[in-house]
Amino acid sequence: MKNILKSLALLSVILVLQSYNNNDSKPIKSIKKIVKASAEQYTFMNNSIYSKLNTKRMMPRTIKKNGETGLTGIYDWTSGFYPGSLWYLHLLTNDAKWEKLATEYTERLDSVQYWTENHDIGFMMECSYGNALKKAPSKAYDDVIVQTAKSLATRFHPKAGIIQSWNASKKWGCPVIVDNMMNLELLFHATKISGDSTYYTIAVSHANATMKNHFRPDYSSYHVLNYNPETGEVLGKYTHQGYADDSSWARGQAWGLYGFTLCYRETKDPKYLEQALHIADYIKNHPNLPKDNIPYWDYNAPLNNDTPRDASAAAITASALYELATFLDKKESKLYKNFANSIINSLSSPAYFAEPTTNNGFLLKHSVGSLPHNSEIDVPLNYADYYFLEALYRQKTLK
Ligand code: GLY
Repeated sequence: MKNILKSLALLSVILVLQSYNNNDSKPIKSIKKIVKASAEQYTFMNNSIYSKLNTKRMMPRTIKKNGETGLTGIYDWTSGFYPGSLWYLHLLTNDAKWEKLATEYTERLDSVQYWTENHDIGFMMECSYGNALKKAPSKAYDDVIVQTAKSLATRFHPKAGIIQSWNASKKWGCPVIVDNMMNLELLFHATKISGDSTYYTIAVSHANATMKNHFRPDYSSYHVLNYNPETGEVLGKYTHQGYADDSSWARGQAWGLYGFTLCYRETKDPKYLEQALHIADYIKNHPNLPKDNIPYWDYNAPLNNDTPRDASAAAITASALYELATFLDKKESKLYKNFANSIINSLSSPAYFAEPTTNNGFLLKHSVGSLPHNSEIDVPLNYADYYFLEALYRQKTLK
């Protein structure tokens, strides 16, 4: 009896210690199993929507309130994620069926290369055409990336040194959102293809302005900044999708982490690595980060039993962390990789990863699009799936 009590006491000490140590994770249990389940689920999704996707609304994005799959057109910011997920399934399985589908959906975005109405074309075209180029070189696809960079560069304000995110509205004249860091990847890519340094220079300028103006001393970020495009003066700092102007929107933190990590990859400027590490630490050590490492939709959101998590923020964070880990020495690298592994272990558990043939074929449950707009709350989102698959691919390939 004494021994049993001793063991129970020891067990409770271990459990308490574990609850304070949510980043000390084990390696991912079975990446092969997760990839297999993901491929089966996307086969189900594709079979259910293929005929609908031949209509003008072309990409699966979420599940609507009526239970139907929400489809979206090619000029929506999320249009590149479905083709991108198909590319990652191909890269992860080497099954030619995914390459065929990925090519078909990627090429549906062809006309987006000329789109200049917002900053999102970096997301749309790098996730689709950019990933296609990971598989095989293509002069035609290279040209698409460079033309897209030209279109994106039309939104650059040289005097302020920033790329304008959205068009002017009553609320702001020249808004820049932290998400815009993600569009820089396409600009770096275009310079590598074309040899034209203009795109690289724009990307670096935008990253520097974002680092200077978007982040608070604790490395949390504002979502939206309103700039004077002629002087670069910041006229106001706001949120659009977060809890409050001065709160820390979970996906915004993930975009910042991913964005500065990719800027370090492309420039090797140590200030970007430092920035990414600070953001990673902010996330990892946040007192409101739940034990399973899947954040609430905003790090400062009031917490109760109904506060939604955001699996998309978690997936983006994990993918970024796998890359960040490659730039660090062995001990530090292990720390961030373990953190990423623990996120992926949670996302691939039944709490977040859908049962086969449920969730309309999407992989992950429990993401948030925009809570203040009462839009897409606690639903699957195509970008959560995309960054989850990218994280699996990076876990496998980035050492
Ligand atoms: N880039 C838009 C979003 O993260 O919701």
